[in-house]
Amino acid sequence: MNTAEPTRAAASETSGSSGPSSAGAAGGVRLSARALRTPQPPIAWLMQQAFEVPGMISLAAGFVDQKSLPATPVRDLIEELYTDSDQVLRALQYGLTGGLRGLREAIAARLEKRGMPGPVSPDHVAVTSGSQQLLYLITEALVDPGDIVLVEDPTYFVYMGVLGSAGARILGVATDDEGIIPEALEKRLREVSDAGQMHRLKMLYVMTYFQNPKGTNHSQRRREQIYEIIERWSTPENFIYILEDAAYYELRFEGEDVPFLKSLDTRNERVMTALTFSKGFAPGLRLGYGYMPPALVEPVLNLKGNHDFGSGNLSQYIAHAALASGRFDQHVEILRARYKDKRDAMLRVIREEFPAEAQYAEPAGGLYVWVTLPEGVSTSPGSRFFQAAMAERVLYVPGHYCYAQEPGRPKPENQMRLCYAYIDEAPLEEGVRRMGAAIKAAL
Ligand SMILES: Cc1ncc(COP(=O)(O)O)c(C=O)c1O
Repeated sequence: MNTAEPTRAAASETSGSSGPSSAGAAGGVRLSARALRTPQPPIAWLMQQAFEVPGMISLAAGFVDQKSLPATPVRDLIEELYTDSDQVLRALQYGLTGGLRGLREAIAARLEKRGMPGPVSPDHVAVTSGSQQLLYLITEALVDPGDIVLVEDPTYFVYMGVLGSAGARILGVATDDEGIIPEALEKRLREVSDAGQMHRLKMLYVMTYFQNPKGTNHSQRRREQIYEIIERWSTPENFIYILEDAAYYELRFEGEDVPFLKSLDTRNERVMTALTFSKGFAPGLRLGYGYMPPALVEPVLNLKGNHDFGSGNLSQYIAHAALASGRFDQHVEILRARYKDKRDAMLRVIREEFPAEAQYAEPAGGLYVWVTLPEGVSTSPGSRFFQAAMAERVLYVPGHYCYAQEPGRPKPENQMRLCYAYIDEAPLEEGVRRMGAAIKAAL
């Protein structure tokens, strides 16, 4: 199975470059250029391995903790919904494209409470089918083929798939354990400018909280530096947006809260902040939301209308009641403790079992531990290490997938993402032990 993988990885590396000549030529099926730019996500075969190979332990899947999903609170919320028959019927009807009014109002009020400069208008909040749909819609609204989007190196690889589909040119900006390195951002902007391409640069995509895959949190200082740099390089003709992905905002289990990067956008014109009910409550609701500059709300909702006329209305009634009743916040507290325990379990076994040559960061929130092996030890599919891990029956996300692939700019291949969220402690610990054995075998 893994022998097929390098082919797929190669296909995804060329995404964004399929020109008109390749459009419509796949096996006699007349596909659009967009479909041809959209290969199977690299993670898909990893998920398949987890299901197909008996005894395989997956530290790759980015699913949330299974045991702590809010089954009882959701049952109670649905029962409460049923005490009002009119409300049930409204919940089972189509809703508004932008989302349930009461939910948008509740979200706006919460954002203000969390330091977003007010007043936050519910009209500038859109509810979407997971925050993934919001990322997609914003990309659709802003990015034409050939446009440039800056991303963190490494970044959320699924979003690189969205960008590849849109035909974007993806440029990576180096990060350290405080987030995007300001000098690296400045340097990339200078390169784009020197190449006469500022008119194609649309956006910086940045995960501000416990980023996927590194687990790092942008410090306040870095948020301010990034905002200042983008603002300085932006002009009215070549306006540069910032897409702030705050998917892991709720999952802090250590340290002080840091205001949203968007709170620096006091005129509400530059930053779109994407949040979700997936990580802090239940991904099965498939609900996310965004707070956006007014000029973007209508284009995004027009596109969303084409997708689905609005996200699941029943889910939105449940989410609204979860916020209003306090059950959402109660659940977040449970999750924080749970993920802290699971992170500790993973780190404990890493300390015991990984050779000293393996470096790793200790996340203060989120779901991931990012591991760096010595230089020259590749984690990519087909590598000796990858085969050793397969032989030990443990899966990880190869770090290479998370880097913007740019010709002439080699990116690290000696890293990997381990997720402690989904599986229980016992298999989690066993998986990390197996990983330690694979590292020792490969070194
Ligand atoms: C960084 C990041 N953003 C967005 C998403 C999308 O999540 P959802 O659509 O469930 O809100 C994910 C999912 O894992 C993610 O890791």
